[in-house]
Amino acid sequence: MSLLIKGGTVVNADRSFISDVLCDNGKIHRTAEGIDAPSGCEVIDAAGQYVMPGGIDPHTHMQLPFMGTVASEDFYTGTAAGLAGGTTMIIDFVIPNPQQNIMEAYRQWREWAEKAVSDYSFHVAITWWDESVHKDMGTLATRHGVNSFKHFMAYKGAIMADDEVMVNSFSRALELGAMPTVHAENGELVFQLQKKIYEMGITGPEGHPLSRPPEVEGEAANRAIRIAEVLGVPLYLVHVSTRQALESIVRARNEGQRVFGEVLAGHLLIDESVYRDPDPESAAAHVMSPPFRSKEHRDALWAGLICGNLQTTATDHCCFCADQKAAGKDDFRKTPNGTAGIENRMEVLWHHAVNTGRLTMNEFVKVTSTNAAQIFNIYPRKGSIAPGADADIVVWDPQASKTISAKTHKQNVDYNIFEGMKVKGCASHTISAGKLVYANGELRAERGAGRYVDRPAFPPLYDAVQRRARMKVPQAVKRR
Ligand code: URP
Ligand code: ZN
Ligand code: ZN
Repeated sequence: MSLLIKGGTVVNADRSFISDVLCDNGKIHRTAEGIDAPSGCEVIDAAGQYVMPGGIDPHTHMQLPFMGTVASEDFYTGTAAGLAGGTTMIIDFVIPNPQQNIMEAYRQWREWAEKAVSDYSFHVAITWWDESVHKDMGTLATRHGVNSFKHFMAYKGAIMADDEVMVNSFSRALELGAMPTVHAENGELVFQLQKKIYEMGITGPEGHPLSRPPEVEGEAANRAIRIAEVLGVPLYLVHVSTRQALESIVRARNEGQRVFGEVLAGHLLIDESVYRDPDPESAAAHVMSPPFRSKEHRDALWAGLICGNLQTTATDHCCFCADQKAAGKDDFRKTPNGTAGIENRMEVLWHHAVNTGRLTMNEFVKVTSTNAAQIFNIYPRKGSIAPGADADIVVWDPQASKTISAKTHKQNVDYNIFEGMKVKGCASHTISAGKLVYANGELRAERGAGRYVDRPAFPPLYDAVQRRARMKVPQAVKRR
């Protein structure tokens, strides 16, 4: 089954060029000008449009059981909404309960994900520690293509990883050539501040950001970075939302540490005042962690993205409808944390980054696809328009415009944090594994067509980092 995209401009992370793109058997077969369509080949007219690697959202939570409920978007509806916005792959999270066998949780998430319409992969969260976790991390990395392990430094009493868990897990990740990742918020501080604010009589959503001030993220980010430095392991920080966390990343990178940062489209664009919305339902709909921030932080995040200190963009797509958010109506601490965005990430970023001149089109491709593919070791299978790569492609119409709304979005949630935002530049066609799955508003996604993507560990990096770690420990001892 072949498909030809004709007359467009290919935009990769490194360059743009006028080219047709012929896809066959799920792969990109050829890029050249003037390719004739083989017989029976479906043809897409891309004149005046850009042909880019499909987006990779490296941070989603489909049908996550969380805070007493389950996220409303499942792997079918969520990946379909992604395709409608030009995102052709997600990296979701297996999150075992403390004491739950890691392999059991992994198998559970694999089963849930079988209905996905686009390709997917999993980071696995380390929420507790014993010898079985040590062994299972090895099994996941060597036999199941898991090369990243997540640590929630927040959510005390639930899935929080303390320093002991992190040090053990980071050390094991180093042995395996895997990437530790962190949700950086000091869980103890959040817990104490939540209690204090609630006891002061602030019980509504406005209490949420007050209990998670920027310093709480800055402390945890810096702690995780310094732990990674001592152990000599690389580190990836998810949803960086503050100037303080970014400053820790920048300092570490300037010192030669391999530290990567992800920023959410929502954190770049939405102001903290949403928590003071007189409509409590709307305020609760924005409750996520870390919370949306003030302009000072958004400006810092934009600067970080522009200069390359933040490498990836994500959504943390984790949907809860109004009836689920209502669990926190009298106590903000009980509001399920999470917001949606997988359908809108590419278009809001294009509009606010490319149309404004903050990023070039090639840089847009980097931060929406290629960098994630490289950091998580699936490049050039993903993140590139080149012969041999998976035919995961978005055809982008820079002239198309729309107004984002929950009334028209395909996401399975009753609220859109970008409600009313007008954007220029949208996906006109999305191709997943060589098949046209979205065309001008119409989804043709096939339940279960998505494939699990193995992400191999990084053995050469592992050797090099280990050598550095061995040198580093005596030096640190000597300084003291
Ligand atoms: O509020 C959020 N972000 N919910 C999902 C879980 C997480 O912290 O990433
Ligand atoms: Zn998080
Ligand atoms: Zn998350």
